[in-house]
Amino acid sequence: MSQPQVIYEKGELLYEGKAKRLYKVVGHDDLIWQEFKDSLTAFNAQKKGSFEDKGAINREICGILYTSLEKAGVPTHRVALQSVNAEVTRRLSMVKLELVVRNVLAGSTAKKFAIEEGRALSRPLVEFYYKDDALADPFVSDDQAIMIGAAQSQVELNELKQFALRVNEVLCAVMVRAGLRLIDFKIEVGRDSQGRLVLGDEISPDTCRLWDEKSGEKLDKDRFRRDLGGVREAYMDVLQRLKQTQVG
Ligand code: TMP
Ligand code: ASP
Repeated sequence: MSQPQVIYEKGELLYEGKAKRLYKVVGHDDLIWQEFKDSLTAFNAQKKGSFEDKGAINREICGILYTSLEKAGVPTHRVALQSVNAEVTRRLSMVKLELVVRNVLAGSTAKKFAIEEGRALSRPLVEFYYKDDALADPFVSDDQAIMIGAAQSQVELNELKQFALRVNEVLCAVMVRAGLRLIDFKIEVGRDSQGRLVLGDEISPDTCRLWDEKSGEKLDKDRFRRDLGGVREAYMDVLQRLKQTQVG
């Protein structure tokens, strides 16, 4: 017998971010209604844009990736799909750090060390950024993360690193099947009521660098950041590839 579907009702707006709106779920204080917007921003929202169906495309990409991660034992915040661009998620106590994993040097870390983009790393690099828009999410060392209170201890930071590396393993395998190289990505994590680490926010071409494995063509938000054109086409290409190579 199939389970009766729970009907959720969207409540009041809690928070509007750069790419998502978060609402209460009526009668469920432990849940959040997450809506993906069609807008995209870069450089801490100094550059703004949008394209048609962007929210729905990113929601679907994220859905495929989170399903793969859940199958591999990585808990995510997803509860129930509500529409093409909205889902009900678990409310988490968010860690005030962005976790970035790099397999290949690109973006800010390539620039920081004046190394040409594209150098493969012998092992994945995990970096922490302090989540604070007013400070433009600065890089923090492990000790700085503890000093500012974003983590309690080195043990917790090590747990975050292991979590990020596990996400990397799963995502790399998914992307390889889709003919994509996962250059780097950012995730946001939180803790559930039992203190378990859970993947929140989203993973999409907004939050990853994805290069075509043969041509090296960029198929992510760098097309928008760097005015390369074909932003929507690139996001659609990623979605089609992931759909075609989805297992199970
Ligand atoms: P970075 O090279 O600019 O530091 O970015 C590393 C990765 O993190 C890249 O895949 C893009 C992603 N990212 C975000 O998702 N949000 C951000 O605010 C930034 C700066 C990067
Ligand atoms: N996410 C940041 C912004 O929206 C930075 C970026 O992705 O480049 O401005």
